[in-house]
Amino acid sequence: MRVYLDNAATTPITEEVLKEMTNCLRHLYGNPSSIHSDGRKARAAIENARKSIAGYLNASIGEIFFTSGGTESNNMAIKCAVRDLGVKRIISSATEHHCVLHTLDTVESAQGIEVVHLEVDSKGRISMEELEQLLADKSQKTLVSLMHANNEIGTMVSMDRISELCETYGAYYHSDTIQTTGHFPIDVEKTKIDFLSGSAHKFHGPKGCGFIYINGNSKLKPFIDGGSQERNMRGGTENIAGIVGLAKAFELANDNMDERIEYISNLRSYFIQELKENFEDIQFNGDYDGQFLYTVISVSFPPSPKSELLLLNLDILGISASGGSACTSGAEAGSHVLSAIKADPARKTIRFSFSHYNTKEEINFVLEKLKTIVKTKETVS
Ligand SMILES: Cc1ncc(COP(=O)(O)O)c(C=O)c1O
Repeated sequence: MRVYLDNAATTPITEEVLKEMTNCLRHLYGNPSSIHSDGRKARAAIENARKSIAGYLNASIGEIFFTSGGTESNNMAIKCAVRDLGVKRIISSATEHHCVLHTLDTVESAQGIEVVHLEVDSKGRISMEELEQLLADKSQKTLVSLMHANNEIGTMVSMDRISELCETYGAYYHSDTIQTTGHFPIDVEKTKIDFLSGSAHKFHGPKGCGFIYINGNSKLKPFIDGGSQERNMRGGTENIAGIVGLAKAFELANDNMDERIEYISNLRSYFIQELKENFEDIQFNGDYDGQFLYTVISVSFPPSPKSELLLLNLDILGISASGGSACTSGAEAGSHVLSAIKADPARKTIRFSFSHYNTKEEINFVLEKLKTIVKTKETVS
């Protein structure tokens, strides 16, 4: 048996998505910019995909732009806000994904943008009071860039509250919603936001394809110079199969969202309960029983010789999980998120992340294997 519990890193592609993509690759080979009928067919597939995604987010069709994924979407939001909207200050936090943090480093060093990180507490939560205090100083045009859900520890923020604050104080709002688009309902009419991002491979679509929502009031210049694709925002012949796959996966994710939330949340609760009952001195990271991402649980195990190579041992025993962020798993560098919440570096932290393809049998398998590596209550007593 092999159990995949690394769904925050990437998800397996759904058969139906694969079928649509194969069909597209086989038949929709026209260049969407060509005016003949093969080109027009490919164009229609892209525009249908855009319409479908816009519909689920309650956005206008012209507010959705296809990209190569979450990293590009987040780069685009921050860099275009600085270049085209006159943003001089960005309020963010140290627990953002590297694609946001490193983009902030770039605009800070290259363009002299002031970057302010909000404090995070031991659960990775920001303070809305601190955010409001900073926003009250309106001397510089400000962008707030705060992720909806943290990919390592699952702590979430209230997008509604941040949106209200940004509206009150006239700031732009960007949210890295890579872990939540397709997993939570998001309505940009209800929650006013300037930029949000989506990545197909986080909701059972293909890798290397994503989108960005850009509020129609923001007039931006091209992010990638070239042809006039994506309403001039991003030159280059479109990844038609990726876009079609993204839209299908997004459709399935949204249409089945309630059932998936319930199913995955139950698996997660069962796992947490069993861990608490059977294992000695374990800790859960993030706001795991407050405002949390239901697909993720980050667990810290006490130091012991056997748990030293926990992730590797789990892999050998047939379990794929992640140590901290998946984007850096395999690398020796520690997790910047665990450092920011001041987690004990001596403990071994594993992020388990679930999808609707996981089963209770798989969870039991993981629990059994864990008992052979880490301290259970029985081994201690
Ligand atoms: C919160 C978050 N933002 C951005 C990304 C990057 O997305 P992509 O892999 O589509 O570039 C990830 C991927 O792990 C993520 O978890």
